[in-house]
Amino acid sequence: MRRSIVAANWKLNGSLEMAKSLVTAIDAHSNGLAGVDAVICPPFPYLSYVGGLMSAGNMCLGAQSVADQQSGAFTGEVSAEMVAEMGCRYAIVGHSERREYYGETDAIVAAKFLRIQTAGLIPILCVGESLEQREQGMMQDTIVRQVSAVVTEAGIANMKNAVLAYEPIWAIGTGKTASPEQAQEVHAIIRSEITKHSADVAEGLRILYGGSVKANNAAELFSQPDIDGGLIGGASLDAEQFNAIVAAGSSK
Ligand code: 13P
Repeated sequence: MRRSIVAANWKLNGSLEMAKSLVTAIDAHSNGLAGVDAVICPPFPYLSYVGGLMSAGNMCLGAQSVADQQSGAFTGEVSAEMVAEMGCRYAIVGHSERREYYGETDAIVAAKFLRIQTAGLIPILCVGESLEQREQGMMQDTIVRQVSAVVTEAGIANMKNAVLAYEPIWAIGTGKTASPEQAQEVHAIIRSEITKHSADVAEGLRILYGGSVKANNAAELFSQPDIDGGLIGGASLDAEQFNAIVAAGSSK
């Protein structure tokens, strides 16, 4: 039985005031909820503050990105070790917004994945196809390529200490959620790709769904056999919405 994860990706949103009310409400709700971990990934400056607001044992802190380098003359970058020091347990890598707007290639994503693990953190590796790729029948090839780029570099044993997230680009921030069947199909593709290397690792791997997850569709998505929780954007900025999604993860 895989333990669910519901992770909040605040992206470039928030303020100290918002962090306080939002995280306090999530912490109170998560406390005592069985079978689910709630991960909050705020912008870097708020990491320490948000970590300090968490008291529930099932709440963890995550970073939205890290540098592909450990240290040196890389102005504006933040290392995996630094966010680990600030209390993070997770770091998102390979988000489509990073791939698309900041030129992160499969090779950069793999390098960052390794940096995250070297710092003792758990990567949340995002993969997902564009609408164009789906319409051209390239969905499976795209997903397999993105997963394989990391598995080849990191080795299958390291996938044991990783979480995957399937985020179809056409569903992010659009209100167009993948149907539970569409999401399940891709989650099964990812799990069977990992199974080719190790059935044991595949069985234990948590695969989250992301893309317009809301309070009213989370339970149905999470009820699919290969969906082990969610990576939440917009709805993670609203305590009532996010708490309902965490509750859906708990009752999976
Ligand atoms: P939305 O939930 O806003 O669609 O964003 C999903 C996402 O990109 C989470 O990483």
